[in-house]
Amino acid sequence: MNECRKAAFSIEAFIRTCYAYSNMKALHYKKGIAVVGAHFGDEGKGKFDDLIIRRYKKEGYKVINIRGQGGGNAGHTVVDAETGIKYDFHYLPSGGLVSDIILLGAGMLLDPIRILKEAEKLPVEQRQRILIDGRATFCTLLERKLDGYQESCKEKRGSAKVGSTGSGVGPAVSLRALRVHIQFFKAKACKSPEELKMLFDKIPDVPAYIWEDIAEEYGSVMAYIEKLYDAIQQLNIVNSMPIIQYTRDQGWACVLEVSQAFCLDCLFGNEGNFVTSTHTTAIGALADAGLVPADLTDGVILVCKAYASKVGGGPFVTKFTDDEIEQEIAKFIYDTNGEKGVTTGRLRDLGWFDCTAIREAIRRNGYPYLAVNCVDTIGLIPGKQAKICVAYRHKVTGEITTYWPDMQSEYEPVYKTVYVSWDIKHANSEEQIPSEAWRFLAYIEHYSGANIRYIGTGGSNEDVVIVTDIGRSYINYWKALISTGTVE
Ligand code: IMP
Ligand code: MG
Repeated sequence: MNECRKAAFSIEAFIRTCYAYSNMKALHYKKGIAVVGAHFGDEGKGKFDDLIIRRYKKEGYKVINIRGQGGGNAGHTVVDAETGIKYDFHYLPSGGLVSDIILLGAGMLLDPIRILKEAEKLPVEQRQRILIDGRATFCTLLERKLDGYQESCKEKRGSAKVGSTGSGVGPAVSLRALRVHIQFFKAKACKSPEELKMLFDKIPDVPAYIWEDIAEEYGSVMAYIEKLYDAIQQLNIVNSMPIIQYTRDQGWACVLEVSQAFCLDCLFGNEGNFVTSTHTTAIGALADAGLVPADLTDGVILVCKAYASKVGGGPFVTKFTDDEIEQEIAKFIYDTNGEKGVTTGRLRDLGWFDCTAIREAIRRNGYPYLAVNCVDTIGLIPGKQAKICVAYRHKVTGEITTYWPDMQSEYEPVYKTVYVSWDIKHANSEEQIPSEAWRFLAYIEHYSGANIRYIGTGGSNEDVVIVTDIGRSYINYWKALISTGTVE
């Protein structure tokens, strides 16, 4: 049983202790890691959050699981190992069931009613451990309606839609940039729903019909704001710094879950317009959570799948073509892994592993360890031939690049075809990985510069192979043959 569930714990007393604490022994967490998506999201980061938190706890650390950015646009299914109960998280980090404290950081865009709904499904002991940084920004029904409104405006003007998840995160970030947003500490200071309404009244340029829609759904705008007000009273809204400093000084470990993924980064992502509205690199999430790089003593785990998937608009260079065999492979992957967005239920587009994008993610995240999920799936695809995108070629000039270009839609993939045939479903030791699979991983390392540390072999959190010296020697053996041209 999770240790923290056994212990009697009062969050009020914990917060009081943190606030009263004034020492400053440690300038960073004793142990820390960030878990980052490498591609277009939905890589299965949660498995590694869970694995790392359990490892830290085994080593005797208490763990704070932190999110810095994003909001309800994220989505992950988390299974409680003790009860088998499945939870769909959007606001909580995926280590929420096994960590000692959950902190939703200042950069997050949050809906108080929806957080409460998500929290209510958790075991009582875990529910009270959720803390929200008072500096986090409101992202409510208003912002969700603005999200829909802005997408429809784009469509009317003939521009491609972002394909947003509709969770209001983009509009919430834009209100924050305009400095007309509502932060949780201001909402918490309101003495009545009427005072909270006054904060909403200060937001300029909201099309009247949006308030009318809200009124229609709830009977009146005030009825909706009363619900928000009630939710606020039930949440633990804190100043994050005393919590961070106390837990640093007490020698805790921190696990930073970075939502979305590198190729959706608001600056470096998918051709500028087809991105999410926050920074999705480790350093971006650190800034949004109010942490420092030194907190990440164990660096970054970058998570990808052995194939690619994407939802929403924008170029997807390695997307499967209409070719019969690629469509057959797509069908096989849908049948095996589902590949539906947890937040929107949309079917994800599928494609080949993209070393050009992954290399960029590595460069922008420091030198992280790579975790490759779904290696079991790629080993079973029809036709036994997988492609790995090793570079991009400009469609007009023919120029080859191994950097991820800003205008990705102008490029086509350069592929290396690799023989794949193995059945490693649920494998959890290196001995179960056959030579061909090591060879496939060696190609990924050779063309992306990655350092593969974890291999995902199935849907459960237990389906992971950790690459030690044994796996490393296999990968290095194949890499030597690849780089000398001994194998193609
Ligand atoms: P937004 O973050 O809802 O504004 O959506 C912007 C883009 O990011 C769209 O293409 C979404 O499909 C994509 N996106 C946002 N969050 C996720 C996620 O957690 N997984 C996968 N795609 C996401
Ligand atoms: Mg997801």
